[in-house]
Amino acid sequence: MAYTKVKLFIFLIIFSVLTGILISKWKHILGQTDVYIAGNLYADTLSPKNNNSDVHNIPKSINSIIPIKNTSHFAVSAFFDHRLNKTIRVISIIKRNSTQPLYCIFCNNDQDCEFTAAEIEIHTDHFGFPFGASDVLCQGKHTQYATHIAISADEHTDINNLDFLPVKNRVNENSFKYNFTICISNLFGNYNNVLQFAQTMEMYKLLGVQRVVIYNTGCGPDLEKLLQHYEKAGFLEIVPWPIDQFLKPSAGWNIKIHKGDIQYYGQLVTLNECIYRHMYQSKYVLLNDIDEIIMPYKYANLALLMEALQQEHKEVTVFLIENHIFPKTQFEETGKFHRPEWKSIPGINIMEHIYREPERKNIYNPTKMIINPRNVIQTSVHSSLKHIGRVYKVPFDVCRIVHVRKPLQRSLTKEQLFVDTRVWDFEQELIPNVNRTLQLSGLLKSQE
Ligand SMILES: *[C@@H]1O[C@H](CO)[C@@H](O)[C@H](O)[C@H]1NC(C)=O
Ligand SMILES: *[C@@H]1O[C@H](CO)[C@@H](O)[C@H](O)[C@H]1NC(C)=O
Ligand SMILES: *[C@@H]1O[C@H](CO)[C@@H](O)[C@H](O)[C@H]1NC(C)=O
Ligand SMILES: *[C@@H]1O[C@H](CO)[C@@H](O)[C@H](O)[C@H]1NC(C)=O
Ligand SMILES: *[C@@H]1O[C@H](CO)[C@@H](O)[C@H](O)[C@H]1NC(C)=O
Repeated sequence: MAYTKVKLFIFLIIFSVLTGILISKWKHILGQTDVYIAGNLYADTLSPKNNNSDVHNIPKSINSIIPIKNTSHFAVSAFFDHRLNKTIRVISIIKRNSTQPLYCIFCNNDQDCEFTAAEIEIHTDHFGFPFGASDVLCQGKHTQYATHIAISADEHTDINNLDFLPVKNRVNENSFKYNFTICISNLFGNYNNVLQFAQTMEMYKLLGVQRVVIYNTGCGPDLEKLLQHYEKAGFLEIVPWPIDQFLKPSAGWNIKIHKGDIQYYGQLVTLNECIYRHMYQSKYVLLNDIDEIIMPYKYANLALLMEALQQEHKEVTVFLIENHIFPKTQFEETGKFHRPEWKSIPGINIMEHIYREPERKNIYNPTKMIINPRNVIQTSVHSSLKHIGRVYKVPFDVCRIVHVRKPLQRSLTKEQLFVDTRVWDFEQELIPNVNRTLQLSGLLKSQE
């Protein structure tokens, strides 16, 4: 009896010592990720007063939206730009009629900091909204050593009061984790189109996409489950995008119809952020909406498509893909894809909608893009604003967008639409894959 008690006592002592060690390690690791102690400023820069107990604030939700203090502007993410002369680009949201001089404060890991004047570039596409996607460009002698950066309206500001962003893309990688990444600019409201989203994601996998990025302001409860599933599986990267906490976002691009501070939930900001985020992670980036599939018609998948296109057009870095509408109001006749197991799933079943609207005379058919992100500097939604290399409009029969949505040409009858069953080519794999995903997400009960 006494012997057992001693054993228990020794065990308890060892246990508590081990726990103590673990907790202190854990604290140490946590401390390193978000607390920086400031040291000296570079001797050769204009240096305001500084003291050694300074702590640089790295906001907890990095990669989100950071108000630039004492201004109406916001900083989003900072990236080293290897294509420009020692420049750090801070993707920002600038109030266009309230521009003012801004300053960059960037520091290295030893907490040596440099102050320089920023150059502000408001992107030319802003659709007339008061706030616009912008780049705040920071140059200086020591930008290549900078690990974190803040933007300030005051040249002599106390760095304790600033929110710092980590500087990303510091290493110019030339081998990529992914071949194809999709950037979906915005998810908002109560969007709960689960079936179309699951089918689209599974379609992308079959086409050779390895990664999807979504900027999430909000969505419906069922879609949330699906997002969680894809994120856990490592296929989806969800970037929180709480733009509605800072501005009154417009739900469209036309300020007369959809009033607000910034176009379409800040779509232009997120698209640009996504290109830089995946610049050295992905060989190609596809920029399209959540309900669009960039679909190769002449080739089996995106890899074969891009290999062929790139061989023929070596200088091209921006490929424009035409959008085509498949009205959700027209159903295919046999009903063979109207599957009973999907009846309880909210959203559109894209396999049932195979009727494509014809192009309209004298009406521009907007494009989306496949880009080489390392060659794009600024992008808009339908075209690139600034890039290195050439642009090529991919012919309709080679690749086009399958966009199932409400009709644009509402008066057309089925007979006036084209039958386009490209999605059916994938049915053998697509249907069981969608099935499995819905089951794993807890949206569909398994039959066993
Ligand atoms: C903001 O303005 C106030 C008042 O002018 C000033 O005291 C403060 O230092 C400024 N903050 C920053 C971060 O520039
Ligand atoms: C800027 O625009 C806002 C409306 O968005 C207006 O209220 C304000 O007066 C304008 N400021 C300047 C300096 O023009
Ligand atoms: C590059 O930037 C540095 C530091 O800002 C500047 O001194 C130099 O003149 C720049 N060089 C070119 C080629 O622009
Ligand atoms: C990307 O494509 C290359 C060549 O086409 C292939 O060898 C590689 O495995 C692909 N990478 C991924 C992540 O699929
Ligand atoms: C899809 O799942 C349902 C039940 O959840 C099952 O009845 C059906 O056979 C499955 N279909 C395919 C093609 O896997």
